Amino acid sequence: MKEKILVTGGTGYIGSHTTVELQNAGYDVVIIDNLSNSNESVLDGIQAITGIRPVFVKGDCTDIDTLRKLFEENPGIKGIINFAASKAVGESVQKPLLYYRNNLNTLINLLELMPEFGVKGIVFSSSCTVYGEPDLNPIDETAPIKPATSPYGNTKQISEEIIEDYVKSGAPIKSILLRYFNPIGAHPSALIGELPLGVPQNLVPYLTQTAAGIRKELTVFGDDYNTPDGSCIRDYIDVVDLAKAHVIAMKRMLDNNDTDPVEIFNLGTGNGLSVLQLIKAFEEATGVPVPHKIGQRRAGDIEKIWADPKKANQVLGWTAQADIKDTMANAWRWQCRVSGKN
Ligand code: NAD
Ligand code: UFG
Repeated sequence: MKEKILVTGGTGYIGSHTTVELQNAGYDVVIIDNLSNSNESVLDGIQAITGIRPVFVKGDCTDIDTLRKLFEENPGIKGIINFAASKAVGESVQKPLLYYRNNLNTLINLLELMPEFGVKGIVFSSSCTVYGEPDLNPIDETAPIKPATSPYGNTKQISEEIIEDYVKSGAPIKSILLRYFNPIGAHPSALIGELPLGVPQNLVPYLTQTAAGIRKELTVFGDDYNTPDGSCIRDYIDVVDLAKAHVIAMKRMLDNNDTDPVEIFNLGTGNGLSVLQLIKAFEEATGVPVPHKIGQRRAGDIEKIWADPKKANQVLGWTAQADIKDTMANAWRWQCRVSGKN
């Protein structure tokens, strides 16, 4: 029998790509999403790619009764991947309680219900934001956690601690905490991708919208950093590679009895790219110019961070595969689709 996985936030950006990979790997998926940052039509894309429409529950994970009903109506859920969260760093500074309530109550409700419904493991979406500005790059999982610079980042740190404390208390569950670096790109089919809502705050959606003529020009936030070309460096990870890591993590939790109850993995490529290098990669991959100018530094930005992904490579047997140019071409194909260019 196929194993059943609950994907919270499954119509969102990373959740939809992970649902595709879970279904491709033979898992049954139940999605819960309140559609606060996604659209139900994403289910059509998932179905078109995999031939399977996941079970969908429109509901809010901060409401424990909704979750309890979901577990009752979908018996046999063995694992959870918890993507559901609010994720805009700037907004979290303006509305901290919204972020603490949404991100923490969602997690606490899920953890509380897991033993009651016999759910063995939970994969949690954490972030390299927990490392702050690294003293040394590449950064591995043993690096110190730095004080969070936003309520959003703090919810990731607190969530990791809540999971560790709960497991330490003897709760009969396992967890894998995945610290993502910078997820970008879209499914190569261009049937799912990152939905642009309002003015994008992140680099790649802003870049593709600029290339599509929706934005006049991209501002590079600073070229006076201590990096080879002066712009900030990140570890950009293709969303499909990232999604595949979740399937491996889930399998490890459910099928392997000898692993530690809580494990932490960085998910990145191990390569740092500057903002200017990324723009160049896009232009080379697509032949489409990106009008851009150098602007002021953005407050709170980290200068440079990239992953040491050795632990994920060796322990999970997972390595990021995508070439950055293919990733940028996929991001562009998705942009063209959502802006009606093809
Ligand atoms: P997303 O906004 O596209 O997806 C999150 C989904 O969760 C959305 O569909 C939203 O409608 C849903 N949601 C939010 N609150 C909910 C609730 N209370 N109940 C039910 N559904 C709810 O974001 P994403 O980029 O796919 O991110 C997924 C996870 O990965 C988040 O936890 C995010 O913090 C984390 N993460 C993302 C990045 C990134 O750069 N995208 C980096 C590190 C970590
Ligand atoms: N940037 C620009 N111009 C823009 C947007 C971004 O130059 O218009 C630069 C930023 O200064 C930064 C880089 O592009 O140097 C990447 O910025 P993003 O906003 O795309 O990503 P961040 O690394 O700042 O943060 C993202 C998520 C966080 C998450 C973190 C690590 O927004 O939530 O990755 O996963 F915590």
